[in-house]
Amino acid sequence: MCVKFRGSHVLSVAQFERGDIEAIFRIADHMEPYAQRRRATRVLEGAILGSMFFEASTRTRISFGSAFNLLGGEVRESVGMDSLSLVKGESLRDTARVLSGFSDVICMRHPVAGSVAEFASASRVPVLNGGDGSNEHPSQALLDLYTIEKELAGRGRNIDGLRIAMIGDLRYGRTVHSLARLLSLFEGIQVVLVSPPELSMPAPLVEELRAAGQRVVESDNLEASITHVDIVYSTRIQEERFPDRRQADLYRGRLRLNQAIYTQYCEPNTVIMHPLPRDSRAEANELDIDLDQNPNLAIFRQTDNGLLVRMALFALVLDVVPLVDKYACEVRWYTPG
Ligand code: CP
Repeated sequence: MCVKFRGSHVLSVAQFERGDIEAIFRIADHMEPYAQRRRATRVLEGAILGSMFFEASTRTRISFGSAFNLLGGEVRESVGMDSLSLVKGESLRDTARVLSGFSDVICMRHPVAGSVAEFASASRVPVLNGGDGSNEHPSQALLDLYTIEKELAGRGRNIDGLRIAMIGDLRYGRTVHSLARLLSLFEGIQVVLVSPPELSMPAPLVEELRAAGQRVVESDNLEASITHVDIVYSTRIQEERFPDRRQADLYRGRLRLNQAIYTQYCEPNTVIMHPLPRDSRAEANELDIDLDQNPNLAIFRQTDNGLLVRMALFALVLDVVPLVDKYACEVRWYTPG
């Protein structure tokens, strides 16, 4: 299994089979004591992660960097376009060739769909897609599915047979694109796609789900769509993909979930997810902070799980999985409370 990952780019979830997902998740499980600082490892000592984020990010950028640090590696980071020679007309391919001479692996986010793949085509080291425009966000979908697996396990269930409502901007939201693709790998999935008609899931992705035998319903009615699901997966209006703010404003705040709606319409224990950031401005507020005390709100378990999944991806593409424990070392600074 590791041979398949060794030296590979991670550009789209379409490159994975179900067995690959299982492998990533079991390695992610193994990373937990390292992520929780109960153990330390120097397995990637001397390795350098090139972290290239051409678009705003909190979770993905810092989680990739922290995951690499936790495996003993160093991070060299560039944020935004302005500090790079791309502004002097250098191509993405030349940039990739240069940076891959300095790095052992690169993670990258870019506002243009397909740009991370273009960059990867000229890179001599593995490139992990941290989000390319509205196209894909593979590591987010993996951590989302890993979270779903864990949440359902606590209820004696597995991913097969999952009922999920994906809500919000399904047109531009790359996390739901990647997650929908991953769900095609499983059995008996029921998906309710809830969005304004103008922001519906791209037809090819809906077709992919249906061709895989999954039951797909499209709706613009939030309350009617969340009554019989295991997971409510809310998303933000992706304002940065709209021609201007005014057009994004047309859709902001239309599909809001709060505790009163959850209590009235959801089954008990329905899990609430969101890739974050949630837009907490009054006019948007797609996931109200009055849900923060709800034990079924899994949004911060998602971010914690992201660290484990990204550690697993690095260990796989750099082919060090069997060595993680071998290069474990004493934790000197951390005293469990
Ligand atoms: N979920 C996600 O991609 O968050 P960031 O934009 O903060 O990285």
